[in-house]
Amino acid sequence: MNTDDIVRTFLDFYRERGHELITGSSLLPPPSDPVLFTTSGMHPLTPYLLGRPHPQGRRLVNVQRCLRTTDLDEVGDLTHLTVFDMLGSWSLGDYDHPQSLRWGYELLRDGFGIPREKLYVTVFGGDEQVGPDLESLDTWRELGVPVESTRDENWWSNGPVGPCGPDSEIFYWTGDGSPEGSPTSDSRWVEIWNHVHMRLERGEDGGLVPLPQVSVDTGMGLERLVAVLQGRRSVYETDVFEPWVRIVPTLWVLGERDMRIVCDHLRSSIFVIGEGVRPANTGRGYVLRRLIRRVLTVLWRDDDSRTLSDLPVELVGTGTEREVLFDEERRFGQLLERGRRVLSRSEFRGPLSEEDYHYLHDTHGLPREWVAGLLR
Ligand code: SER
Repeated sequence: MNTDDIVRTFLDFYRERGHELITGSSLLPPPSDPVLFTTSGMHPLTPYLLGRPHPQGRRLVNVQRCLRTTDLDEVGDLTHLTVFDMLGSWSLGDYDHPQSLRWGYELLRDGFGIPREKLYVTVFGGDEQVGPDLESLDTWRELGVPVESTRDENWWSNGPVGPCGPDSEIFYWTGDGSPEGSPTSDSRWVEIWNHVHMRLERGEDGGLVPLPQVSVDTGMGLERLVAVLQGRRSVYETDVFEPWVRIVPTLWVLGERDMRIVCDHLRSSIFVIGEGVRPANTGRGYVLRRLIRRVLTVLWRDDDSRTLSDLPVELVGTGTEREVLFDEERRFGQLLERGRRVLSRSEFRGPLSEEDYHYLHDTHGLPREWVAGLLR
């Protein structure tokens, strides 16, 4: 299955079960939303999870482009991406959580052909405020899928206040040979899908109150699912990253991790620029600036003659994206020129303290990684 087949299979499965496709929500939330970027499929649906009727009904499905800055430091590993697509399904006060789990399992098994032996599930084991999620535990046992309870890993919220609830996280065995251990003991179990029982709302005082309606929110990272179904170790080896991983290594010789960072950050930057964001020192523009400058820091570590103008049209097109990338490269190049002069001052001879790094970053905009590289 290629990525398009996988998306179609997911959407068809839910449409056949009465879900309406919602489209058109952007990577940028509306101005009233304090969050910079849409971070999950449920994010634009928050008012409806809180009880407002959705114009398209109580059963919804979609593919939502998301951006998570919380995962930035993990980008470079096999599975984390800055911008990714999330496949989502919702019951807004309609069918219950066990139904969502049963359909989820049916889709993984019959729609995507994943054998039961390759799955493991975690459920909420309870804490001081909320009891254990026995309903989900029983449902998974009935389905014959191995399940374990955790305390802290199986609670979903989209922030300190708002709709939240216990969840069931479905993991896939990515190791060679027969599955071993469980998701909490072996990292070869990779999370692919989360089914959240949205039934509570956390208030400003930290207390939990029942939501006026009980909903289900599920989210599955598309690129990770594609990797699993295509039998790839990493999201970069799937058709999602064609042509990036074919072309980038022909331009620059990079280690595996650097190559992933460069591909992820450039691809993400292009999406963000496409939404009208421009590099800046605050807000969304700052996220974009960080992405582009991190790419340049990686590229220039070994060879400062490398330039984004080497990127072919096949990757960056001929339009605004290209101009914005080059403009930021020029600005960053000038900033580093000034940075070199600052660093040549006698006070920066010898090993630098934490305070020096902070000063160089906050006052002169010099990334720590770049300064450390230059001093080496
Ligand atoms: N909100 C949950 C998540 O993002 C499920 O959609 O994982």
